[in-house]
Amino acid sequence: MTAPSEKPIAIVTGAAQGIGLGIARALALASHRVMMADIDQDRLGQSARAIQAEGGEVVPQPLDVTKPDDWDRALATVGARWGGLDVLVNNAGISPRGTAESTDLALWDLTLAVNLKGAWLGAKSALPWLKKSRGVILNIGSTRSTRPMPGLFSYVVSKAGLWGMTRQLAVEYLHAGVRCNMIAPGWVDTANERLLQARHGRPDFPAGVSNLTTPEQVGAAAVYLASPAARTISGVILYLDSGLHVADEAGMVFFPESRALPFPQRIDEA
Ligand SMILES: NC(=O)c1ccc[n+]([C@@H]2O[C@H](COP(=O)([O-])OP(=O)(O)OC[C@H]3O[C@@H](n4cnc5c(N)ncnc54)[C@H](O)[C@@H]3O)[C@@H](O)[C@H]2O)c1
Repeated sequence: MTAPSEKPIAIVTGAAQGIGLGIARALALASHRVMMADIDQDRLGQSARAIQAEGGEVVPQPLDVTKPDDWDRALATVGARWGGLDVLVNNAGISPRGTAESTDLALWDLTLAVNLKGAWLGAKSALPWLKKSRGVILNIGSTRSTRPMPGLFSYVVSKAGLWGMTRQLAVEYLHAGVRCNMIAPGWVDTANERLLQARHGRPDFPAGVSNLTTPEQVGAAAVYLASPAARTISGVILYLDSGLHVADEAGMVFFPESRALPFPQRIDEA
């Protein structure tokens, strides 16, 4: 970590809204200096100003996680401004619908580029700094990282890949003192998740969802995993889904009646 007298430095991707905003805010209010990175510059500016108004030290950074040049610029900026990096949070992600057959090449490429390649590019750019600070990488996965669901083909594959990347990084950088963990939420009440659920027949989401997680709770998990208290934790997946990942719900797809129900009513989504 950065010298104890100094505030640790973090980059959070997809920080303009939703879970990324919750993580950036939680880290900033827990005395981190946070670069908030996102492709959506307008919203990013508004969100950064809101955290600054609460006393958080944050800076907005336009960044498309799929673009190596954007990462170079972001790391150069964080280095020039604050002189180091302690925490990288790979949160930016998209969750398009589609089966193995209905997913076309463009959708596959986009999902894998944002959800998987983006996290690798982030890690690749940040690791030279993280090795100096013995820092932390947090990847935001999903219950779907380990529990597939019909109709989320490219998403599930990308998030499972991100879990593999998490473990690979944990092992590859163990001796360098860099930790890498995954936070895997179930449903999180974000504006975009509401839109998505409404589009798929649940206009009242999140009403009735009993295992709803908030962006603040994901932020609290990130603060803990980034802290010295978690210094022996690496290569783990921390589910924030009230146990959905251990429930036997996925077995329901083998019941005959599940074929009669149209997706997505067939099985709950995360
Ligand atoms: N909301 C949920 O229920 C839920 C559940 C499990 C996991 N997740 C995961 O959490 C993460 C955040 O989800 P959310 O619900 O907050 O999403 P969101 O759509 O509310 O926010 C995602 C942010 O990422 C940004 N983004 C998209 N593409 C980008 C790119 N190429 N480069 C940089 N930024 C980009 C968007 O502009 C947006 O600000 C995702 O990885 C998602 O898969 C969400």
